[in-house]
Amino acid sequence: MILATNFKSNLTRAKTVEYLEKVEAYCEENSISDEVMIFPPASALCEKSLHVSVGAQNAFGVVNGAFTGELALDQLQEFGIKTILIGHSERRHVLGESQELIAEKFNFYKEQGFRIVYCIGEPLEVREEGNSALLAYLDAQYKGIDLSYKNLVIAYEPVWAIGTGLTPTLDDVELIHGAIREETSAALLYGGSVKAESAKSFLALDNVDGVLVGSGALNPDDFCSMIRDAASLQ
Ligand code: PGA
Repeated sequence: MILATNFKSNLTRAKTVEYLEKVEAYCEENSISDEVMIFPPASALCEKSLHVSVGAQNAFGVVNGAFTGELALDQLQEFGIKTILIGHSERRHVLGESQELIAEKFNFYKEQGFRIVYCIGEPLEVREEGNSALLAYLDAQYKGIDLSYKNLVIAYEPVWAIGTGLTPTLDDVELIHGAIREETSAALLYGGSVKAESAKSFLALDNVDGVLVGSGALNPDDFCSMIRDAASLQ
């Protein structure tokens, strides 16, 4: 399984180092074989540890150049970063990234062989239109994306569930993941208000290969508890 946490604009570099040490120690002591990833803010990027991969929340699809405010491949390579989050709902809806830009980034980092966690998910008004509208919306988010890329992970994160404490029902998650599974053999993560108390019920569903967690994993003890739950399901 895959346990991933996205810190967004939370935690400092010092806190990230502490976090990573704690999670690494947990994985080591418990011989964890699941894939564990953290996505710290850009200021806290660092080398991966033995069990925990460190990924970038965002980077421009170039080696380097004149792109004010963006990281590029050179800066990621300095830390040996080989994992990236692309298409997160906050990049799409708050920062205004278009599907075209997202696909450009995807293709650049695919060429570089990165592990790509590609996020998709529908806003509430689409959810309210029913399942066929929802699946059509997700389909549009596959535009320009190679769903057969071998290093691809897809995170299904309904926009209305991110940071709100709301989640789809377990039946709905299973249904949507089943539909996504028809399009790709990539590992499928569920994300959106996953908490230490709820992670196990998502992880136990068919076609859920892991979770992508924001606020519910800002405390490393909570993230470790999710790692423990995933291990217990094997
Ligand atoms: P959340 O965020 O767990 O705080 O809802 C999830 C995400 O945005 O990846």
